[in-house]
Amino acid sequence: MPKVLEGAAIAAAIKQEVAEEVKKLAARGVRPGLAAVLVGHVPASEIYVKSKVQACAELGLYSDLITPPDTVTTEEMLDLVHSLNDRDDIDGILIQLPLPKQVDAKVLLDAVVPEKDVDGFHPVNAGRLQAGRPALAPCTPAGMIEILKRSNLPISGQHAVVVGRSDIVGKPAAMLLLHENATVTICHSKTRDLGAVTRQADILVAAIGRPGFITPEMVKPGATIIDVGINRLNTREEFDRYFAGNEKRLAAFEKRGSTIVGDVHPAAYQVSGAYTPVPGGVGLLTIAMLMSNTVRAAKMRRGL
Ligand SMILES: NC(=O)c1ccc[n+]([C@@H]2O[C@H](COP(=O)([O-])OP(=O)(O)OC[C@H]3O[C@@H](n4cnc5c(N)ncnc54)[C@H](OP(=O)(O)O)[C@@H]3O)[C@@H](O)[C@H]2O)c1
Repeated sequence: MPKVLEGAAIAAAIKQEVAEEVKKLAARGVRPGLAAVLVGHVPASEIYVKSKVQACAELGLYSDLITPPDTVTTEEMLDLVHSLNDRDDIDGILIQLPLPKQVDAKVLLDAVVPEKDVDGFHPVNAGRLQAGRPALAPCTPAGMIEILKRSNLPISGQHAVVVGRSDIVGKPAAMLLLHENATVTICHSKTRDLGAVTRQADILVAAIGRPGFITPEMVKPGATIIDVGINRLNTREEFDRYFAGNEKRLAAFEKRGSTIVGDVHPAAYQVSGAYTPVPGGVGLLTIAMLMSNTVRAAKMRRGL
């Protein structure tokens, strides 16, 4: 039976460590602070940001929730970012994506000073990460590394195949695995014979954004699967494609009217030696790593 790499216990351990660090900083008169910018009313974003602000409260961080209307302009958002860059009580700036169409997200993310870029999206942090310098790394890939390390799964010398090359998941995941001495292959939509490549993976990272895309024959028996994907299924037909016969899941689906599936088909998990479930795997690490990055940013900015 494959081992299920549950994110909850690992996220809780990281949060506990962050809370201890916050206490130590408090004794030195420092309270790390996170500004969470939530534009408009995107229901999923509201849930994510609420969880982030709640995590700050639980761990003793200061948070400031800023909610511009969905009519906000790029210029107004830039003014906001500049004011947050200048505030001494703010160590991390989080701009929840997606932003309304009229706002230039790239311009905005680049305007966040790298020292407060706790999402690790700024090109300076991407460059520092690549160069192996101290950097604020994107939270989801950083969480993936924590899962592997804290589950005592080997990384060094392993062949890691990352499917997906986005700036926020695929590329930083590949770079972090490389720094841990994995041999890394990055795949994308133009990769030829994807299955032939993924079958070579000791560690297979799926960050594709396509439900159940990795099928059993694409997985080497015994491999470790990190499933980053979050895809919502709304119809019974879609549900049956991935979870037919799973009565527990069906009950939850019928109660909520939807469920989520990763980028890996649940049948493919059964070929693996260990896998992160969806939900309950990598996703749970993202907020813990955001808290960890905010404390790190607070310390780095003060030279602590
Ligand atoms: N907290 C979390 O757990 C968390 C955080 C972020 C994202 N996610 C999830 O992770 C997944 C990936 O997110 P993302 O932001 O990285 O997505 P993205 O920006 O859409 O990137 C998807 C990547 O997958 C590649 N791809 C698409 N179709 C492919 C195919 N047929 N074969 C091989 N590669 C293919 C794309 O290749 P090209 O570059 O060639 O187009 C691209 O590099 C999504 O399900 C998202 O919801 C979860």
